[in-house]
Amino acid sequence: MSGRGRFVTFEGIDGAGKSTQIAFVEQWLRSQGADVLLTREPGGTAIGEALRELILHRSMQPRTETLLMFAARCEHVLAVIEPALAAGRWVLCDRFTDATYAYQAGGRGLPPADVATLERWVHPALQPDLTLLFDLDPAIAAERLARAQRSDRFEAEQRDFFARVREHYLARARAEPQRFVVVDTSRDKPVVQVQLVEAVGRLL
Ligand code: TMP
Repeated sequence: MSGRGRFVTFEGIDGAGKSTQIAFVEQWLRSQGADVLLTREPGGTAIGEALRELILHRSMQPRTETLLMFAARCEHVLAVIEPALAAGRWVLCDRFTDATYAYQAGGRGLPPADVATLERWVHPALQPDLTLLFDLDPAIAAERLARAQRSDRFEAEQRDFFARVREHYLARARAEPQRFVVVDTSRDKPVVQVQLVEAVGRLL
């Protein structure tokens, strides 16, 4: 690809089926000859992965949690995401700043304006070209999580927490319909995959 790469983010409540779909999009893009970098948040760098361990497993204040999310993101944007986009690569990122609005503002109840302040400081000029929001009823997501091993502080949250996270995600999608595609993961896999190919293919 010539010019700047494409930045695609993947969002949704825990248990919505995001991981399976990311693997599908990655494979499909590679089959189209795209140069793809798959990364995640919190994480994606040595510092970010170390912070991820703390964030997911150590109890802390919501504000501390938010600052650590952005500390990990700062390292990730500067050291990984921006250079890859500048080199013309596709960056597929498993969660980005929409997750902070949804989880820390929506779920934990912090003012969205505080998240916006950090966003402006850490990545004033960077926004995803496309955000795929994997949407599922929190009751169904909870059943899926119960079958998997509950392993971190977020997955252990109650249904009402995820209901708030979901509502905040959907509100963001309504506010920016040109950036978001909402994918209903309760539908059959082939139907979901057609929708993904259509959304991502538009950026090729
Ligand atoms: P993952 O399980 O999808 O890798 O994400 C790790 C957890 O971190 C997930 O439960 C959502 C949470 N998270 C936030 O609360 N805020 C954020 O900004 C990010 C990136 C993730």
